[in-house]
Amino acid sequence: MSRLVFEPITLRGMTARNRLWVPPMCQYSVEAQDGVATDWHMVHLGGLARGGAGAVIVEATAVTPEGRISPQDLGLWNDEQRDALAPIVGFMQSQGTKAGIQLAHAGRKASTYRTFEPERSGSVPVSDGGWQTVAPSALAYPELAEPQALDQAGIKQLIAAFQAAARRAVDAGFDFIEVHGAHGYLLHEFLSPLSNTRDDDYGGSLENRARFLLQVVDVIREEVPDDMPLFVRLSAVDWIDTGLTIDDTVQVVRWLDEHGVDLIDVSSGSNLPAKIPSGPGYQVKFAETIRERTGVPTAAVGLITQPFQAEHILTTGQADVVLVGRESLRNANFPIHAAQVLRHKTPPTPIQYHRAYR
Ligand code: FNR
Repeated sequence: MSRLVFEPITLRGMTARNRLWVPPMCQYSVEAQDGVATDWHMVHLGGLARGGAGAVIVEATAVTPEGRISPQDLGLWNDEQRDALAPIVGFMQSQGTKAGIQLAHAGRKASTYRTFEPERSGSVPVSDGGWQTVAPSALAYPELAEPQALDQAGIKQLIAAFQAAARRAVDAGFDFIEVHGAHGYLLHEFLSPLSNTRDDDYGGSLENRARFLLQVVDVIREEVPDDMPLFVRLSAVDWIDTGLTIDDTVQVVRWLDEHGVDLIDVSSGSNLPAKIPSGPGYQVKFAETIRERTGVPTAAVGLITQPFQAEHILTTGQADVVLVGRESLRNANFPIHAAQVLRHKTPPTPIQYHRAYR
């Protein structure tokens, strides 16, 4: 039997072997606070590739030191960081998996203790290795330190930092890049009226609020080969009445399409605490709406944990790719497992494991 989750998909010059992919997931596991990948990243990402994913997207990777969520985040602002990622990319690709990286700046949510820090949470003070955060406006995320509003020179420098990180991602061998425009991090902070009260040409209208994101996309598109796909992750809605709506996001996606973005990874929320009606596939409807109204390919994500659920999302045309996050942490071989459950005829099993799946 043949299943849609195991159909290859082509975006620009890249063909992934299947449509069960792994979304970016921070590991907060850099040892020397230098943004350099470690053995953990090799084993974690390599294991996910060995498990049969069509593509694995490396965690939010900061384009500047101040763009890290925590001091233990990956970075790509220097060549040492690039060189540490290259063999990990090579191993992922040796398993038949396409390797992507999410380029990010955490904005006002930077400089926080990692989520599993015992007995510490919130902003890391400068005295403990933290730093002054930046944002569109000097509006703090609840219980975090107040950010400094970026001036236009600061925005320019960050656009250049995204471009330089994209160059390093290409040089490290990545197959594609995803820009992090979601979850209340810097680019989402600019997009959302909840966090952007600027009165220059980066604030006010939706067009102005989208300017920074589109400029980042432009420099990356300019920097990477023409046949390399470029994705953007968006929070489709803020889940707050006065925040971003799905109509706003549809408009932003139309612009992103015109600027050469190939797929929208559709998440939601996290710019401010909100009541979210979370449940199986709770964000899939946004991926469906964006796909339907813009014609741009989408990835669905969020509490997709079952093989038939993933297959159904694709066969009903709600998305082009399914991202499986936490379920992949529980079972890195999820795609192989899904092939068994769905009775797919050619599971993505590594040859070394063939006796386990006869
Ligand atoms: C995440 N998520 C996330 N999202 C993102 O855009 N960049 C990131 O680096 C991270 N980091 C991260 C770490 C961990 C440990 C988890 C569990 C999640 C969100 C993630 O990509 C995904 O959107 C959500 O987990 C929802 O999908 P699942 O887990 O329900 O399949």
